[in-house]
Amino acid sequence: MHMSKICRTFVLANDRNTITYKYKSFFTMNKKVVILSTSLRTGSNSHALAEQFAEGAKSAGHEVELISLRGKEIKFCIGCLKCQETGACVFKDDVPAIMDSVLNADVVCWATPIYYYEMSGQMKTLIDRMNAMYPKDYRFRDIYLLTTAAEDEPFVPERAESGLTGWIDCYEKCTLKAHLFCGGVNDPREIAGNAKLQEAYNLGKNI
Ligand SMILES: Cc1cc2nc3c(=O)[nH]c(=O)nc-3n(C[C@H](O)[C@H](O)[C@H](O)COP(=O)(O)O)c2cc1C
Repeated sequence: MHMSKICRTFVLANDRNTITYKYKSFFTMNKKVVILSTSLRTGSNSHALAEQFAEGAKSAGHEVELISLRGKEIKFCIGCLKCQETGACVFKDDVPAIMDSVLNADVVCWATPIYYYEMSGQMKTLIDRMNAMYPKDYRFRDIYLLTTAAEDEPFVPERAESGLTGWIDCYEKCTLKAHLFCGGVNDPREIAGNAKLQEAYNLGKNI
C-alpha cells in the first residue's frame, strides 16, 4: 500500500512535469531578434560578441537579423522634429530601414566599443535618428547591451549603459535585460579565445 502510494505520487509528479514541459514548448514563441552592431572597424571585438549573441539566439530557434553599421549612411539628427509631425525623418538614408527592423523586433541587442567611457558616436547618432519611432507603437520589450574596451574595470562601460538607459526609459514597455562587458581588448580581433564570447552565445541562447 505504502509502495503503491509512493509510485502513484511519482507518476503524478512525472505526468505533471511532462505536461508542464509540453505546455512550455507549446507556449515558447520564437522571437524576432535584431542586433545593432555599431563598431565600424575590421576585426571588431564588439562585433565578435554580437555574432556570438546571434549564433546563440539562432540555436534556440529565434529569427535573427544582425545589422552592422559598417558602410551604412547615417546622417546626424538636426533636431527639426518633422518626424513627430509626419512619422518619418526628412533624411532618406539607411536609418528608416533599420528603424523598421527595430520596431518589429521582440528583442533588440546593441553592441558598441567604449569610446571615452561612453557608447560609440555612431550608436548615439542612430539612437537620435530613430526619434521618428518615439510616438509609434513598438514591439520590442527586451534590450541587451554588449560592450568592449581596452581597460578592464567595472566603471569603464557604466556611462554607455546609463546612456542606453536614457533611450530605454522613453519606451516604457521595454527593459534592459543584461549588459555583457568585455574589457582588456584593444586591438582588432584581440577578443579571440576570450571566455566572454561563450557568455555572449549563452546570453543569446537564453533570451
Ligand atoms: C576613439 C576611441 C576612444 C576609446 N576610448 C576608450 C575608453 O574610454 N576606455 C577604454 O577602455 N577603451 C577605449 N578605447 C578602446 C576601445 O574601446 C577598444 O579598442 C575596443 O575593443 C574597440 O571595440 P571594437 O573592436 O568593437 O571597435 C577607445 C578607442 C577609440 C578608437
